[in-house]
Amino acid sequence: MDKFRIVGGRPLEGRVQISGAKNSALPCLAAALLSSGTVTFHNLPYVRDIITMRRLLEDLGCGVLMPEQATLKVTASNIEFFEAPYELVKSMRASVLALGPLLARFGEARVSLPGGCAIGQRPVDLHLRALEVLGAVISLENGTIVARAGRLKGANVFFPKITVTGTENLMMAASLAEGVTVLDNAAREPEIEDLAELLNKMGARVTGAGTSTIRIEGVEKLGGAGHTIIPDRIETGTFLAAAALTGGELELCNCRPDHLGSVIAHMRQAGVHIEQPNQFTLNVHANGGLKALDIVTQEYPGFPTDMQAQYMALMTRAEGTSVITENIFENRFMHASELARMGARIHIQGKQAIVEGGGRMTGAKVQASDLRASASLVVAGLAADGETIVDRVYHIDRGYEKIEEKLRSVGGQIERFRE
Ligand code: EPZ
Repeated sequence: MDKFRIVGGRPLEGRVQISGAKNSALPCLAAALLSSGTVTFHNLPYVRDIITMRRLLEDLGCGVLMPEQATLKVTASNIEFFEAPYELVKSMRASVLALGPLLARFGEARVSLPGGCAIGQRPVDLHLRALEVLGAVISLENGTIVARAGRLKGANVFFPKITVTGTENLMMAASLAEGVTVLDNAAREPEIEDLAELLNKMGARVTGAGTSTIRIEGVEKLGGAGHTIIPDRIETGTFLAAAALTGGELELCNCRPDHLGSVIAHMRQAGVHIEQPNQFTLNVHANGGLKALDIVTQEYPGFPTDMQAQYMALMTRAEGTSVITENIFENRFMHASELARMGARIHIQGKQAIVEGGGRMTGAKVQASDLRASASLVVAGLAADGETIVDRVYHIDRGYEKIEEKLRSVGGQIERFRE
């Protein structure tokens, strides 16, 4: 099992190219199932979840070509199976994104019920109830979601809770339904807008993406398209935290600062110097002290839960005590006990983590539990005195492209090894 050996204490300095967003690429790749045409994707991140999604598409019968790095051509003209099997779904719950497209195009879909994961139960009940509103008949057979429908019928859908992939599944299903669907209390993430842009290029009629109310006028058929995936806002935020925590200076290229409003505002208020020289670049440096600042994670455009762990690492260095409230997932503080092994002083009380800052962390052996927790431990290791060994780095490989190469290119002392 791969591990990282990190020697901390050196400020990160230089230029980092941000990769495409995994959480946009996943629904966009699933959307290719809606058409018998070819969809060409550019700026795909080379991460494990994208490899898993590619395997799922090929297992379903899609033709997938990779003419060059970061590009995939997907053609779903010979779909023979309509099932996302357990071994794929258990390794990536976002496989549930195949449900909407398969059901809408073929009237049938079987997706293994995604289990929970380290950060929480992760149910998909909101996806299923909403698909039933569009006329799907859904049952659970031996741990597999079995969905059937004639042609789905457009309808008004209200999400009692905001769900990102639930919104994405319904946008895709509704794009081939008969009539108009309105999604109320929809997720507003930039990844939703990116999916809507792709669907409209394929011939769909989606309006309102990025707001809480999305309108989809169903069409008979969708065609092929070309699409460039938006930059990864969470990778960008992770490098902002790494620069700030190590007291360094980074230029982040090919990013979208406008997708990180809440993160940039909070970090600036905490004393991180962040400039935006143009629409696709951020310059970050932290030569002054950091001040403790509370955050509350919320759905977009609030502070993203996917940045909570990295921000906690940052607050261990800030002057004063900060309170981090996690509102989205019920168990997303596992990184706190690992950071404590490095000397952080963090007290968990229900949905809140109280971080006593001002300390200097020391290297230790730590274990990653999920994708963003592992990013938090890497960032902490880069700033800690001495050596940190991060175990189970397969978690970080799910969502960060070449992270150790990128960090080494800006002075980070990090190497991957296998024990
Ligand atoms: C997406 O997960 C992201 N994944 C997650 O990123 C991200 O943390 C999350 O949105 C929140 O922003 C992808 O986009 C592939 P939700 P998703 O449905 O869609 C509850 C990462 O690190 N809920 O918005 O699964 C759920 O339990 C990953 O890149 C239901 O109760 O999240 C959670 O408490 C981790 N029933 C809340 O809603 C449902 O049917 C938000 O979940 C669906 C969700």
